[in-house]
Amino acid sequence: MASWVASVREGLARAGDHEPRFIGARDARRCVSLADAVALVRDGVLWEGTGRVAVPEARRLLLRLSLPGGDPGLAAMAKCCVVPELGVAGYRFVGSIGGEDPVRYVHIVSLEQRRLLATIDEHLTYLLRIAALAVVAAAHTVPVARPTVGMVGAGRLARAVLEGLIEAGAVGKIVVASRQPASRDGLVRTLRDRGFEHAYTARDVRDAAAQADFLVTATTASAPILSSGWVKPGATVYGLGAAAELPEDLLVRAERGPVRLVVSNWRECAERADIRRLIAAGRLGNADVDAELWEIIAGTKPAREHAGEIVCLRAPGSVALDVLLGAWVCARQAMLL
Ligand SMILES: NC(=O)c1ccc[n+]([C@@H]2O[C@H](COP(=O)([O-])OP(=O)(O)OC[C@H]3O[C@@H](n4cnc5c(N)ncnc54)[C@H](OP(=O)(O)O)[C@@H]3O)[C@@H](O)[C@H]2O)c1
Repeated sequence: MASWVASVREGLARAGDHEPRFIGARDARRCVSLADAVALVRDGVLWEGTGRVAVPEARRLLLRLSLPGGDPGLAAMAKCCVVPELGVAGYRFVGSIGGEDPVRYVHIVSLEQRRLLATIDEHLTYLLRIAALAVVAAAHTVPVARPTVGMVGAGRLARAVLEGLIEAGAVGKIVVASRQPASRDGLVRTLRDRGFEHAYTARDVRDAAAQADFLVTATTASAPILSSGWVKPGATVYGLGAAAELPEDLLVRAERGPVRLVVSNWRECAERADIRRLIAAGRLGNADVDAELWEIIAGTKPAREHAGEIVCLRAPGSVALDVLLGAWVCARQAMLL
């Protein structure tokens, strides 16, 4: 049993003795450290991969609506899963206007009592989950202990991931590329002001890619922002953006060179716009995937077979990770009652 399970179960049982709670974003963030989140996310990836979290066949419900006058549009996304070992179901709901997300909640429900235990505002914990997954991904796919991290993008995710890698001691040097100088300069300044001296702006994406052992893309770009030929041999490319920011020749087996395609979870990835489009065109399928991340964590498959191979990792978040984090927050808050 994972080390945190007993205490989370105890906290969830305590939560069941009280009225359902609303837990605000700051309170939620306060009760989970990066180290906690890394352990939860690592186990969550393993649990999901080995069937210890049940997720519906249709993994998410996506609703879109145009506002009168065109953009910005309205979108809503719902997901759910069951975690039998914790005795909970989790329902996640994100509501966005023009790409912003004023509504971002996870609801934790007791399976035994058939009632809500807590509703958690995820606005800070989802960024922690993303940072923790990046720490786990780096630990298991980057062959250098303190790698040079190339970050393409300088927004919310980029900052959360870089701060997480710094806190985890998993980065030697950072180079940031983005569209606008003000964004990347601002991010580098923030990291330096917080005490990390080895942060620099890259000349461009190519410069960042050439230096990076761990190249992370966290942009809103809807077309590829790099070329596979720019990536340093032996590096890991980690695609976080929702759209088609990675070049197709890092993904499609017939078109790629010495690249291993690793996904967090094929079923989850197969629903993402970039991958879905390639599947529909008959250019990508499950057979193109060399490993799922849980197999590398479990030690059943290697990240790479040869030192010079590039690992391309596509790892969108999953409801399982958000619900495990939510269950942790719910349990911790209940122990304070
Ligand atoms: N994997 C996950 O679990 C997960 C979860 C939530 C969101 N996402 C996705 O992650 C992406 C980033 O989200 P965010 O919240 O960080 O967005 P954000 O705060 O709006 O930041 C987006 C960044 O993308 C950069 N960018 C856009 N086009 C670019 C280009 N062509 N070349 C280089 N940089 C470019 C922008 O650079 P400038 O500032 O210089 O313009 C900006 O810094 C989105 O696609 C989002 O949907 C993923």
